[in-house]
Amino acid sequence: MSGTSVFYTPDPGADGQRVMAGSRTGDSSTEGSSVAGLIARCTRALERSAVCFGHGTDNARDEAAALVFHVLDLDHDDALRAYGLTVSAAGQQRVAAMLEARITTRRPLPYLTGEAWFAGLRFAVDERVLVPRSPFAELIMGRFEPWLDPAGVRRILEIGTGSGCMAIACARAFPDSSVVATDISAAALEVARRNVARYELADRVQLVEADLYAGVTGTFDLIISNPPYVSAEEVASLPDEYRHEPALALLSDEDGMATPARILQHATRFLSADGWLALEVGGGAALLEARFANLPFIWPEFEHGGDGIALISAVDLRASECPATP
Ligand SMILES: C[S@@+](CC[C@H](N)C(=O)[O-])C[C@H]1O[C@@H](n2cnc3c(N)ncnc32)[C@H](O)[C@@H]1O
Repeated sequence: MSGTSVFYTPDPGADGQRVMAGSRTGDSSTEGSSVAGLIARCTRALERSAVCFGHGTDNARDEAAALVFHVLDLDHDDALRAYGLTVSAAGQQRVAAMLEARITTRRPLPYLTGEAWFAGLRFAVDERVLVPRSPFAELIMGRFEPWLDPAGVRRILEIGTGSGCMAIACARAFPDSSVVATDISAAALEVARRNVARYELADRVQLVEADLYAGVTGTFDLIISNPPYVSAEEVASLPDEYRHEPALALLSDEDGMATPARILQHATRFLSADGWLALEVGGGAALLEARFANLPFIWPEFEHGGDGIALISAVDLRASECPATP
């Protein structure tokens, strides 16, 4: 999660993201005890505070709406009706308590609510996993076209699955596929297991505790990874919210490119003849290009924001004889 990408959050309403109720509240002068009034008050409190956005929302109003709708168990799809509802004193107190926790602890909102959205799906999250926010959502929902032929995708490998959001979204986008998802963190895999069970995908998503590819066998039509790619220096400069995320999910040695480089260097062995590797490096694109100047990376542009995912085919990897480290 390097450079600007660490702050990346897709536009509200972008593919795969919930349309936050706050985006449509309109006139924030509707005060009193209505849902709209409560969202307006929370928005102002967030704006006055030092909180940093980037974990599911990118502005105070959307974050306020997400908080209020979660606490009051309201439906974002029925937002227009919800705005006019009157909130009881007890409901207002619950909202105030979560707002205070958000501002004083600087914990990202998804850790307080216990849920995050990715590729249109709801995932359980807590401090054992990164809050899902990768632009991979758009690639997965578009089934990696035009680069891949979706019909040919049978086996998928994810390195560094965290909450399992990318592996699960892939399993749903490619219904005939099976997915192997590794993570070095046993704690993260417990969260992933819960999400795999929620989507009843235990028969198609295999979770493996492993350092990158260790113990993985066979070849894959698609390898995806959003690995740690932030240098120690960058991590030290991140806003407080990021200190609540696991260091293992963010921190990578050297200039941040050590883990992505290891993934790239071993990919050839695990890719089928027509396979593709998709590797997120965020703001580290120039670093990766410089380190692997012989590789013809493709950098997809995203309709809904974000960048820094490199695509490379097995054919190109083999042609350029990407060196494998021991
Ligand atoms: C940036 S998070 C991505 C999580 C998830 N894929 C997502 O996009 O929300 C990186 C994940 O890689 C895992 N990880 C870090 N080093 C690893 C390694 N050497 N082998 C496997 N997984 C690793 C971390 O535990 C973390 O869950």
